[in-house]
Amino acid sequence: MKNLPKILLLGISAALMISAGLKPQHMLIKKSPEVSVADSIKKIDKATGLIVDKGLDIVTAHCTGCHSSKLITQFHTDRAGWLEKIRWMQQKQKLWDLGESEPIILDYLAKNYPATEVVNRRASLKNIEWYKLK
Ligand code: HEC
Repeated sequence: MKNLPKILLLGISAALMISAGLKPQHMLIKKSPEVSVADSIKKIDKATGLIVDKGLDIVTAHCTGCHSSKLITQFHTDRAGWLEKIRWMQQKQKLWDLGESEPIILDYLAKNYPATEVVNRRASLKNIEWYKLK
């Protein structure tokens, strides 16, 4: 019987700690915005991870069957480079003739995944004084 208050106290403090721990987390979940940072710049299609733009449905139909869209989003090149990649897949990877969809796909890719990805690149450093590590 002597131990009962101790146990009670432990129970209460545990309950307090749990509720204190849960509260901020709960609020955080509520407050977190529906869209991610990337979405605020360019809308990302949730299903494919590709940028929402004209031609997305065609690109999704032709380009996500064999491999993850990550191969596309991680690859940046100009229109000629994309055409070259498509030709390479057609020759080596059994990619079919894209027909009338090809220019639409190329427009989409060259616009949304161009050669220069400005967003993640800082300007090159200038006037650096290099020093020898001792
Ligand atoms: C018939 C299957 C198939 C289809 C459809 C297909 N690909 Fe591919 N693709 C491949 C294969 C196979 C690879 C090589 C994967 C690897 O290296 O792991 C590849 C690789 C790639 C790469 C990476 C190239 C590199 O050098 O890193 C890109 C980019 C790419 N595909 C884009 C596309 C685009 C854009 C389309 C739609 C026009 C498309 N793919 C449709 C089969 C396909």
